[in-house]
Amino acid sequence: MIPESVEQMEAESRRPAPSAAEVVTAYRVEENPHPASVQERAKVLANPGFGVYFSDHMGRATWTAEEGWGDYRVVPYGPTALDPAGAVLHYGQEVFEGLKVYRHEDGSFWTFRPTYNALRMNYSSGRLAIPEFPVEAFLGSITALTRQDAAWVPDKPGSLYLRPFVFASESFLGVRSAQRFEYFLIASPSGAYFPNGFQPINLWVERDYHRAGPGGMGAAKTGGNYAASLLPKLRAAREGYDEVLFLDAATSTTIDELGGMNVFIVYRDGRLRTPRLTGNILPGNTRSSILQLAHDAGVDAAEETLVFDDVVADIRSGAISEMFACGTAAVVTSIGSLSGTDANGQEFRLELKDSTVAKRVYDTLTGIQYGTIADPHNWMYRID
Ligand SMILES: Cc1ncc(COP(=O)(O)O)c(C=O)c1O
Repeated sequence: MIPESVEQMEAESRRPAPSAAEVVTAYRVEENPHPASVQERAKVLANPGFGVYFSDHMGRATWTAEEGWGDYRVVPYGPTALDPAGAVLHYGQEVFEGLKVYRHEDGSFWTFRPTYNALRMNYSSGRLAIPEFPVEAFLGSITALTRQDAAWVPDKPGSLYLRPFVFASESFLGVRSAQRFEYFLIASPSGAYFPNGFQPINLWVERDYHRAGPGGMGAAKTGGNYAASLLPKLRAAREGYDEVLFLDAATSTTIDELGGMNVFIVYRDGRLRTPRLTGNILPGNTRSSILQLAHDAGVDAAEETLVFDDVVADIRSGAISEMFACGTAAVVTSIGSLSGTDANGQEFRLELKDSTVAKRVYDTLTGIQYGTIADPHNWMYRID
């Protein structure tokens, strides 16, 4: 299905998913005749980094206007031919996802709320006029590829990062939705996001550039939004900042999110707040899970319009004790400082010293993901 709203996506994602055994059968496996050797793989897994190395196989499927989705396969990982007139190269009609496979202590393989990602991919596709990809086919692809490339799943604290994506492959330069699409799933072993432990990040608060605006694609996980974030990110990095905090495009007064993570604010009185999903912000799986965990724990947690000047005043007064960012890749990252220029052109830098809540949320989420603490909402999906 293509969820019509985030609320519908949330509700649908909570329904029981078909088992891995049921969904895997749709995929035909073509073995890689030249897989990495045991030594080559061991070398990669000893220091995988993030998004650098890829496993021996990949999932794929094709959609045509006549046949719909079909040709579900796991094939050797490698380059794919795309006609220079392929629509995605010109008009950017593509969506993607990101989720991880965790190896548990007993050798089993699990992933976290994959139905949320499957539905979000379709939610993104809806905005980009891309045909929906069946949720069962999404779950089938991650199961088939993970089982095939199980040896590539790093031990804790690492994981196998999965990148599903759909793009317009029709060779045609007319500006309209394409008549042919490809689904791919690639897998990249990844290590701990912060190899040196839980390190706060320093943010640049961006006023000149926005990643998404009203009526645009901000709530969709599509390459164009990331393309829009690269220049501000580059400029911030040159000044020594780790990430950019984007404000809303209409007024530049309220907080949206980072280029690839959602944001939470912790108030000294115990309140937890995150920006409302205005259509400019990606509805994060991690964000949704943190809100649920906070409600479970009886915390006053809510989505709210967060006016940046109020946040500045509350940091200065001490009413805000902590801020953190969250997303699949890093799970939770404490925010150590906010810098930028205010509406009058004055430069500011605000330090945040505390990361107690961020660390607690990180420990809870990763505990659920690695199977060391209870999973009351059945978020974990067993792959093998
Ligand atoms: C723009 C943006 N916001 C938020 C997130 C966090 O989403 P999730 O928690 O589903 O990974 C991501 C990462 O996927 C992202 O790219």
